[in-house]
Amino acid sequence: MRIGILGAGAIGTAFARRLVAGGHEAVLSNSRGPETLAGLMDELGPGASAGTRTEAARADIVVLAVPRAQVATALDGLPDWDGRILVDATNDFAAPPPGPGQATTSEQVAALAPGARVLKALNHLFAASLAADPRQAGGQRVLFVSGDDDAAKKAFTAVLDDLGYAPIDLGGLAAGGRLHQARGGPLVGHDLVRLASAR
Ligand SMILES: NC(=O)c1ccc[n+]([C@@H]2O[C@H](COP(=O)([O-])OP(=O)(O)OC[C@H]3O[C@@H](n4cnc5c(N)ncnc54)[C@H](OP(=O)(O)O)[C@@H]3O)[C@@H](O)[C@H]2O)c1
Repeated sequence: MRIGILGAGAIGTAFARRLVAGGHEAVLSNSRGPETLAGLMDELGPGASAGTRTEAARADIVVLAVPRAQVATALDGLPDWDGRILVDATNDFAAPPPGPGQATTSEQVAALAPGARVLKALNHLFAASLAADPRQAGGQRVLFVSGDDDAAKKAFTAVLDDLGYAPIDLGGLAAGGRLHQARGGPLVGHDLVRLASAR
């Protein structure tokens, strides 16, 4: 599958590595333009390509992996989302945990991307863990996914399954997103492995 990535830093590159290793395509973009990503493309190999933000955003699944302060700029002026999936991998360490009834950070992202089916995922681990082989210690590395659209979750978790992760659906962005939101989410930072015997 072809997946677009907005942000070609630590987290965008980490996921691109897994996509390429799993035989998928990754279209990476940054703020400075595709020509600045030539060295990274050489390193990632044939499954990866550099594109503009717009080119990355045209994929059926798009990962948002930019610093929180750049989220609005990164999403600005993109083609209509028209139901395409936007996976929010960002964290907002400057904001306090949301209180009851307050929007989670991924709900804030959804408000900036009308028409996108927004999921929260790929945010709870350090990039080095995300980049490593998901098959660890006799099991599979756990990734959490939350989102309000079940079909979108199914489509993205199918990709994670294919890559060898053990995705866990935490529910919607308001309740589930809170559990793996940094700061404050109790699941953030735990590098969990689902043992083969647990399947
Ligand atoms: N690093 C981790 O371990 C980790 C783990 C989980 C979640 N996260 C979250 O993931 C997000 C990215 O973190 P990171 O560590 O990968 O950051 P990073 O290494 O600093 O990389 C940021 C990337 O975003 C790009 N970018 C900035 N503004 C952009 C824009 N307007 N349009 C398109 N691309 C833009 C940058 O491109 P230029 O260099 O061209 O500006 C760069 O490629 C953050 O929200 C962070 O909280 C990080």
